Amino acid sequence: KILVAASEVAPFVKEGGLADVTGALSAALSVKGHDVRLVLPRYHQIDPKKYKLTKRKETLSVPMGVIGTVEASIMEGKLPGTSVPSRRAGEPVIVYFIENEYFFGRPGGLYSTIDGDGYMDNDNRFTFFSRATIELCRELKFSPDCIHVNDWHTAALPIFLNTAYRGDPIVGNCATLLTIHNMQHQGEFYEGLMDVLGIGWEHFNYLGLERDGKTNLLKGGIYHSTLVNTVSESYAREIQTPEFGMNLDGVLRERAADLCGILNGVDYENWSPEDDPLIASTYSLDKLANKALCKADMQRTFGLPEREDVPVIGIVSRLVKQKGIDILAEAICGLLELDIQIVLLGAGEVWAHFFYGDMPNRYKGKFGCYIGYDNTLAHKIEAGADFFLMPSRFEPCGLNQMYSMRYGTIPIVRATGGLNDTVENLNEAENTGTGFKFYDITAEALSNTVGWAIYTYYNRKDLMEGLIQRAMKKRFTWADAAEKYEALYIRAIEKRLG
Ligand code: ADP
Ligand code: GLC
Repeated sequence: KILVAASEVAPFVKEGGLADVTGALSAALSVKGHDVRLVLPRYHQIDPKKYKLTKRKETLSVPMGVIGTVEASIMEGKLPGTSVPSRRAGEPVIVYFIENEYFFGRPGGLYSTIDGDGYMDNDNRFTFFSRATIELCRELKFSPDCIHVNDWHTAALPIFLNTAYRGDPIVGNCATLLTIHNMQHQGEFYEGLMDVLGIGWEHFNYLGLERDGKTNLLKGGIYHSTLVNTVSESYAREIQTPEFGMNLDGVLRERAADLCGILNGVDYENWSPEDDPLIASTYSLDKLANKALCKADMQRTFGLPEREDVPVIGIVSRLVKQKGIDILAEAICGLLELDIQIVLLGAGEVWAHFFYGDMPNRYKGKFGCYIGYDNTLAHKIEAGADFFLMPSRFEPCGLNQMYSMRYGTIPIVRATGGLNDTVENLNEAENTGTGFKFYDITAEALSNTVGWAIYTYYNRKDLMEGLIQRAMKKRFTWADAAEKYEALYIRAIEKRLG
């Protein structure tokens, strides 16, 4: 019995890869025969009618320390795709939605206003969500063997289980696994949050929840979870160093024996060129010629000349510093001197909207972009581009490089975290590899490596063909990842009970 708690689950709500992971992992676990349930906030963006949600419970009382008791209500539904007969699986994945109009009924984003300012009460919102999840289990008398929490939003849950709910007959023995998808966001708030958690100030210390005089939920979660993992083996190692640990590397080193990396998988039902309804023409390794139709369609969509002979570099990314978009900004004018086209889809920091949003005017016919979020365009770029660029500063796993390999769109990546683990550098002498990698996070390293890829495109068709063949055959399945999570849950359960 596994309960997965997260602030995002696809297809209900998504801002990043976290949603892809919680949705696809839960489905893969249910295929293996587990009783998997999901819980997430019922944000106003989730339409109850569209997903046929029903009311499960009118009122659920959630203690919020000095704030007092706050009421939630519970909706219930099923994870789409998990109850269709074509799946080998047995049971559909049940999804619980924690409702509270004040916390989750806002018209902006999941974590911030339309203007991008984080909500001032994110601490209370996600403390509430974490505690409501525990109260829900008690109410339903559902005693999961393992509760799988994700990132800082649900990191308070293992803290509560070890403190306020220690010895509780329903949840007191639940093992917990904390998956860290990103060390940058830690849920660090003013110290007074301790009084809302209501767990006693003795937990506010350098081992537990305190960091630099503030209450840090991720840190507390790392300390209190039975086991901890991240989404690639490289990132699991990296975050134990000051360069990537974002001030929590010491805490992670303390827990090194309980920390591992499991690479995310790809939901190939949604991301395969053979049967992708969102692209101009389906194609496969044997019918690769049709990829050219996708390229032409993408060029048309982005207002670029329809040239089959010119290499196109695609980018689909949150436009934030993590993704190296500032390094790209330094390099991009030089790159556009080459006979190439660049297509960019993304949203994020305001400066990037202005900078990249203006590029199509400055580089007519060479640079196309759409500032915003658009899943169909993401698929068109994966299929239509020749290369896919990810110059990340750090990348816990990264999904797009894996999608792009499946589409025969060759990744050019910075060798960090999951990018390093999933892309193998081209070895010209042996004709091996699935992409191009660079190591230094500089505009020069980026430009040189893009230059190498473009040279290969124009002058070494033999090497390009090999890259495409190998990339398209590569698989990163959720079945593999689910098997590893299964082993980790068992380890956590044994540790908790033993
Ligand atoms: P992260 O979670 O750090 O943003 P990932 O590579 O794990 O990075 O996942 C990003 C996911 O979000 C992918 O599924 C990608 O296709 C999608 N995505 C990111 N930006 C956009 C966008 N502007 N439009 C559509 N999809 C996007
Ligand atoms: C985070 C990371 C990304 C990872 C995703 C899903 O958003 O930035 O690298 O793929 O989580 O685990």
